[in-house]
Amino acid sequence: MPSPHVLSEPPPHRPDGTSPLHPRLSPRPSPPLSRATVIATLRAAGCVFAEDEAELLISTAHTADALAAMVERRVRGLPLEHVVGWAEFHGLRVTVDPGVFVPRRRTEFLVGQAIGLGRRTAARTGRPTVVVDLCCGSGAVGAALAAALDRVELYAADIEPAAVRCARRNVTTAGGEVYEGDLFEALPAGLRGRIDVLVANVPYVPTQEVGLLPPEAREHEPRVALDGGADGLDVLRRVTAAAPQWLAPGGHLLVETSERQAPQAVEAFTRNGLLPRVTASDELYATVIIGTAPPPHRTRQPPAPHPTP
Ligand SMILES: C[S@@+](CC[C@H](N)C(=O)[O-])C[C@H]1O[C@@H](n2cnc3c(N)ncnc32)[C@H](O)[C@@H]1O
Repeated sequence: MPSPHVLSEPPPHRPDGTSPLHPRLSPRPSPPLSRATVIATLRAAGCVFAEDEAELLISTAHTADALAAMVERRVRGLPLEHVVGWAEFHGLRVTVDPGVFVPRRRTEFLVGQAIGLGRRTAARTGRPTVVVDLCCGSGAVGAALAAALDRVELYAADIEPAAVRCARRNVTTAGGEVYEGDLFEALPAGLRGRIDVLVANVPYVPTQEVGLLPPEAREHEPRVALDGGADGLDVLRRVTAAAPQWLAPGGHLLVETSERQAPQAVEAFTRNGLLPRVTASDELYATVIIGTAPPPHRTRQPPAPHPTP
């Protein structure tokens, strides 16, 4: 029988690691979790890439306590990017705060298309390309475009305050400006008719299908970032309706959809006078609709007179 002064178990600790028995000794550092324990814990929680994730968490955490906290958050189902605070996107490390949409690998296809169009625009106009990242979330798309294009005037906007705060960290360092508000209402009026490349990765999940998304998205990303209305195209239709007033002559709007939604999306582009083109990547499972505004008006040259014999 142990003496009443000898504890057979370590004293209890509060969730923050401080000890009610030894407050002056607290916080008590956690014993470091071994790599094997981290992998086993993640695997037991259903993480398919437990080894890779463990590597990332171990290399990101500066202390044993931080590692334990990260493992615990991941086990609770937070997206890995929210746990570590960043996502790799198009070769960049993009800050992603909790509650902000995690940029998807498939959206790198949209970025690739936008880079090609931005370069062609720059070659044609000889001035900085005006790029707008509408529905910017973390601002990953805009930041990637600013990194890839030589001379860019970059603007981004989102309706979610958390996204705007996060995007400011990613976009401002890339020389851009971020605005908060509903679609184009957020943008400075002076951008009307000036946008060369307008990227809008709008929410496009049909309302009925939001519940079928993986819990990481459903529970940890805001609904406004996912839910695109009955057929998923509500926000896309609003963007295509207003875009022609904001695009420069010959400017481009790029929007991601599912393959199934592409025909209806094309219809929305056409109805609003944008010349649509559907592009897709099998590898990234991505579909992007590109709509081009009518080109700059050219005064027709009268036909050359036939040379007189
Ligand atoms: C699918 S997420 C894309 C985020 C980011 N562009 C990316 O690719 O990682 C859609 C974003 O649209 C924003 N959004 C939804 N409705 C909006 C609206 N009416 N005006 C502005 N932003 C909106 C959401 O807050 C969310 O950040």
